[in-house]
Amino acid sequence: MKISVILGHPYEKSFNSAISETVVSTLKSNGHTIMFHDLCQERFDPILSDEELVSGISKDALVLQHQQEIKEADGIIVIHPDWWGQPPAILKGWVDRVMRENIAYTFPVGDSGGGLPIGLLKAKAGLVFNTSNTQEERENEVFGDPLQRIWKDCIFAFCGVTVFDRKMFRIIADSTMDERQMWLNQVSDMVKIYFP
Ligand SMILES: Cc1cc2nc3c(=O)[nH]c(=O)nc-3n(C[C@H](O)[C@H](O)[C@H](O)COP(=O)(O)O)c2cc1C
Repeated sequence: MKISVILGHPYEKSFNSAISETVVSTLKSNGHTIMFHDLCQERFDPILSDEELVSGISKDALVLQHQQEIKEADGIIVIHPDWWGQPPAILKGWVDRVMRENIAYTFPVGDSGGGLPIGLLKAKAGLVFNTSNTQEERENEVFGDPLQRIWKDCIFAFCGVTVFDRKMFRIIADSTMDERQMWLNQVSDMVKIYFP
């Protein structure tokens, strides 16, 4: 299978980066074709310009490549830290510019965009790995776990990917090396379940 792996984190020695390495090596050992992008390293431009917004067509070769890959992907895996209950801006910009109308979703004929969308992505599953420094109880009770709604409903289901799973690793700031290794093993196990 062709699997798209997207990392949104600026630091190559971060735990997020370690997660992405585990994702890629697990997929590789299972014989999948991997389309891996470290958005910060490749200097992905997150700004949706007025021209691109209005025309619906990007002139940025990297954006066009991402759009092509996301259309072809049999699976999508996104990795990022929780920043203010949201993905880092570079990844938000990736969603804005790559998951465009007629790439990731469309509307029925005659519907100008106010109705129910039709998802266009053919990916069999979408997985998200997150990290944070907030206790689970506080995340759910005080913040309402916004990343779950954002990825599961607002993005993946909207674009037709209804098989979804997400794992949040916490608390990174207090974690030991043993804990981190155990979490990386959990990453590998989850990838193997969805992409055997
Ligand atoms: C700009 C910024 C915003 C953050 N916002 C949150 C937040 O809303 N909730 C939270 O639990 N942690 C927050 N954090 C902490 C990060 O989630 C944490 O540092 C990261 O998950 C650790 O993983 P890493 O070592 O791979 O960076 C924030 C960190 C930064 C830099």
